[in-house]
Amino acid sequence: MPYTFCKSQQLYDRACKSIAAGVNSGIRKMEQPVPLYFDHGDGPRLWDVDGNEYIDFQIGQGALLYGHAPRGMADAIAEQARKGTHWAAQSELEIEVAERLQKMIPSAELVRFSNSATEVVLSAFRLARGHTGRKLILKFEGHYHGWADEGLVGFAPPPDKWGTEEKPTRLHPSQGVIPEVLDQFVVARWNDPAHLRQRIDEFKGQIAAIIFEPVLCNTGCMEPAPGLMQTIRELCDRDGMLMISDETITGIRFGAGCAQKHYGYSPDLTILGKAIGGGLPFAALAGKKFAFEKIINGSVIHAGTLNGNPLCLAASKWCLDYVIAKGESHPGEIIALGNQLMTGLRKLADRNKIPLRPQGPGLVFHCVMLKPGATEGIVTSYRDYVKRHDAPRWAHLRLCLLQEGVRAIERGLWFISMAHEEKDILEALQRTEKAFARHAVEWKPAA
Ligand SMILES: Cc1ncc(COP(=O)(O)O)c(C=O)c1O
Repeated sequence: MPYTFCKSQQLYDRACKSIAAGVNSGIRKMEQPVPLYFDHGDGPRLWDVDGNEYIDFQIGQGALLYGHAPRGMADAIAEQARKGTHWAAQSELEIEVAERLQKMIPSAELVRFSNSATEVVLSAFRLARGHTGRKLILKFEGHYHGWADEGLVGFAPPPDKWGTEEKPTRLHPSQGVIPEVLDQFVVARWNDPAHLRQRIDEFKGQIAAIIFEPVLCNTGCMEPAPGLMQTIRELCDRDGMLMISDETITGIRFGAGCAQKHYGYSPDLTILGKAIGGGLPFAALAGKKFAFEKIINGSVIHAGTLNGNPLCLAASKWCLDYVIAKGESHPGEIIALGNQLMTGLRKLADRNKIPLRPQGPGLVFHCVMLKPGATEGIVTSYRDYVKRHDAPRWAHLRLCLLQEGVRAIERGLWFISMAHEEKDILEALQRTEKAFARHAVEWKPAA
């Protein structure tokens, strides 16, 4: 029998009376048929308050690279909690975590800790502007860099307003934002090195930094086109701009050296979040020493009461040691599992005549649902995605999956964790078979 969600519904109704819109992050409202309430997790599995058990591929929006509630991390946090939860001061732990990051990531000559990647993005922008004395940041259409005013520019422009291919418009998806924030950005399309060159030349001498998600995970899952990273590096070196790699999702997930090692480039600044804290509110700015100069000499401010919180540091130290102990087997193991799941999903989709096209580097991937008549082939940019992806149909399929105990992200993204094993993938595919069969019968496009 498909799962039901009565207790989650009751809690959500209750929450709406005390929590604005019932949730504490806007995106959680997307969950259909109701935002779910969870009771506990273990490895790759999660149980909600209705007693439904899920094989979880949402996995804390990618933060739980080690699965739910790893015992070693719980012990590390508990031990630290007994010594102190917050000092707003220094501890040897913070040096231990910083030294690990230095060893793992070649471009991490120095680091600074914060509580969320949203904050780290803001620090990186301030540092880049302080370093260059320039105002503009170039970012790519569809890339997400946190929910602050500056991180969201150009995230999800609607087709009627997104401007020409040559000059994408700067738009903000939220009201309440200072309009001038838009004047601080130049937007370019992703995966088109020639177009990027033109955009940079148009604003020559005015751009402080180029920021990007190395794999565009927040809209589809699009790996960088061959040569794109080299073009960004070359343009940054040529014009004195900083190269900012937002590895909030890809950092550590792609192995100790992050996506920058996997795709072979060396950024000036790197945003780290999610997996370095394993689910605790922990994030870091890492980068080359020269790029940190203004923080070192005190002319650019970076601060925070909870920065370098010992509970987060204890968790992070455990996470980094776990990755170091995995050695060369990470990320190969999770890539292989992800590829197995993508292949299985595609086979089942074909069998049920569902136009589902999983794409991505395996350890994270996206299920593109082709609109009727859409062309085949890998989706490579935000505009391409909006034109070809059938979001309502994916939402229906996602609900069928949820009702059979397979949990993917509402937007279509799937994460593999180090806690997933082959048996979980096979069981997920068995459950998927039922979900796809039901979707094939029940799905009716809007008239
Ligand atoms: C690429 C990227 N950058 C920044 C952020 C912001 O991270 P946080 O929600 O921890 O502030 C996210 C969050 O999903 C992200 O995916």
